[in-house]
Amino acid sequence: MTDQNILPPLTQIPAYLQTVADYEVEAQKHLSDMVWQYLQGGSMDEHSVRDNLAQFAQIHLLPRMLKDLTQGHTAIEILGQTFPHPIFVAPIGHQQQFHPEAEAATALAAEVLGSNMILSTFSNTDMRMLKQENPYKWFQLYWQGTREKSLALVQMAEAQHFKAIVVTIDSPHTGIRDRERRVFFHLPEGMQHPHTPTHIPLPALNQGDHPVFHGLMKIAPTWEDIAWLSEQTSLPIILKGIVNPHDAQLALQHGVQGIIVSNHGGRVLDGCIPPLTALQLIKKVVPTDFPVLYDGGIRRGSDIFKAIALGASAVLVGRPCIYGLATAGALGVAHVLKILKEEFEITMALMGTATVSEITTDYIFQK
Ligand code: FNR
Repeated sequence: MTDQNILPPLTQIPAYLQTVADYEVEAQKHLSDMVWQYLQGGSMDEHSVRDNLAQFAQIHLLPRMLKDLTQGHTAIEILGQTFPHPIFVAPIGHQQQFHPEAEAATALAAEVLGSNMILSTFSNTDMRMLKQENPYKWFQLYWQGTREKSLALVQMAEAQHFKAIVVTIDSPHTGIRDRERRVFFHLPEGMQHPHTPTHIPLPALNQGDHPVFHGLMKIAPTWEDIAWLSEQTSLPIILKGIVNPHDAQLALQHGVQGIIVSNHGGRVLDGCIPPLTALQLIKKVVPTDFPVLYDGGIRRGSDIFKAIALGASAVLVGRPCIYGLATAGALGVAHVLKILKEEFEITMALMGTATVSEITTDYIFQK
C-alpha cells in the first residue's frame, strides 16, 4: 500500500468484517507501510510471532454435553476486583499512529464492552482522559530509569483511580526488529507523550564502557526496585513479561501480586518460549490463587478458552484491538472486543462450562 492510497477510518462497520482476521486484512488498508510494519513486526526472524499464533492449534477442546448452563456467566475476580469477563486490552504505545483519537478511542471501546484497559506508559492520551469512575483500568509502567521518576508515574495513576500497576519487565532493551529498520521506522515528529519522554536519557559512557551493559542496562530495574516499588504504593504490582517459573517464584518473594505470562507479542526476544507453554510451567510452581494472566496470540474466543483451561486468570489482547482502532476508531475496537467476547461465550456454552472457574485442563487435550 503506497501512502497515497491509505483509506480513512470507516464510520460504520461493513458486513465483511466478522473476525479478528478480517480486521487484520482491513487495518492494513488504513495504515502507512511504515506503521503497518511497526504493528505487525516482531524481533529478528519472528519465530516467536508465529509460535504465539501456532501454539493454540496444539490444544484440542474436549467438550462435555447435556449440562445445565442456565446459571452461566463470564464474570471473574482478580485481587478482589470483579470483572464482567476475562478479556483485557493489552498496553500498546503511541496509538495516535493508528487513529487520531488514539487511546481515548480504545478506552471508550473498552469501557463500553466492560474490558479492563491497561494503559501504556507511552500513551499519547493523558491518563486523566480516562473516566475516573470506570473501575476497569490498570496502568502499565515502563521503568523510568530512576525510582523517583517511576514512582511519580505510579502516584499519578493512583490519583486517577487506576486499580493496579502493570510493570513491563521483558524489554530492558528494545528487540532487534528488522522490519522496522528496513522501513526506517520513526515516530511522527512532535508526537505528544504526556507521561514520559519516549527516550529516557542514557548514562554518559566513559571510554572503554560497553554501550549495552553500561548504557541501558545501567538504568534497567532489578528485583530490589520491584520490591521497593511494591512498598511505596497501595496498588497491586503485576509484572508483565514473566516466562520462567523461577522468576514467577521470585515475583512472589518480592511483593508482586500477580504476573502476566508474555513474550511481548514476539517483539523483543525471538525464540522466547511460547507463552502458553510458559503458562503451564509457571502454574506448577505458584499457589493456585496467585493471579497469572496470559498474553500473546489471542485471535479467537476459543484461544481465550484454551488459555484459561491452562490456568490463566484472564487474557490480554494486543494487536487485534489495534486492527479495530485503525479500521474504525472506537467503533472498530468495540467490534473486535465484541467478536472475541461472543466467540468466547459461545465456546463456553458448547464446551459445557457455565462459569470461567469451571474451565480447567479437564476440558482440553494436548496433541
Ligand atoms: C506492544 N506491547 C506493549 N507492551 C507494553 O507493556 N507496553 C507498550 O507500550 C507496548 N507497546 C506495544 C506496541 C505494539 C505496536 C505492539 C504490537 C505491542 C506488547 C503488548 O502489550 C502485548 O504484549 C502483545 O501485543 C500481545 O500479543 P498480541 O495480542 O499482539 O498477539
